[in-house]
Amino acid sequence: MNFLYFDTIDSTNDYLKNNYNDLNDLTFVSCRTQTSGKGRSNRKWYSDGNNLLFSLLIKNKELISKYKDISIITAYSIIEVLKEYKLNNLYLKWPNDIYVGNKKICGILLEAISKVEIECLIVGVGLNINQKIFNEDYINEPTSISLELNKDLDIEILKDKVYKQIELNLKRIENDYDFYSKIKELDYLKNKEVYAFINNQKQKVKVIGIDLDYSLKVILDGNTINLNSGEISFHLEKEDI
Ligand code: BTN
Repeated sequence: MNFLYFDTIDSTNDYLKNNYNDLNDLTFVSCRTQTSGKGRSNRKWYSDGNNLLFSLLIKNKELISKYKDISIITAYSIIEVLKEYKLNNLYLKWPNDIYVGNKKICGILLEAISKVEIECLIVGVGLNINQKIFNEDYINEPTSISLELNKDLDIEILKDKVYKQIELNLKRIENDYDFYSKIKELDYLKNKEVYAFINNQKQKVKVIGIDLDYSLKVILDGNTINLNSGEISFHLEKEDI
């Protein structure tokens, strides 16, 4: 593992995108604050300087070939660490958000750099740790560990645990370890009715749950289909789109 840290940077994902040629596999780059933090679907990622923001570079071909598993396993690894801190009611909202009850505590942005084939993956993580006031406009109501546990945490200690857990679980997926039984117990969307953009159309689906290959099994117009992340974006009924 290699570690880089910046006090302020535009975006840790963009840093890796611009420098991946000169960096080793499993480089983690973290920062205190970002000037252009990015969320999924071209949204901004806001953070007040009291959270964990990092991106991980993956160049290893075996892991790149398992790119569909990467963000879900990253989310699962973070959940394992959060459980150590006695945070309860944790869910994995397919494909890559972590929720405490109905509030979002962590988001993951997976990006791939491709030429002829995928050269590398960049896994960007924003985990709310000590932030207490969220003033921006959020689609999903946010929370932080500190709001949930009523105490502040040492971000460096937590970061170290998160890095180690992700590395361990990436090794496990390289060796085909099956996380499915653990992941399906954390499924936030299971049995919910949600709107999904499928082929650029907003459609209502009934979620059956995360399937064996980590795609999402849903019922659309009476037919069971499997959705892959990247093809769709999801919104619960009450959420703006
Ligand atoms: C989402 O839920 O929309 C994904 C959010 C990902 C945010 C992280 S913060 C560190 C990394 N750098 C970025 O610009 N984005 C990711």
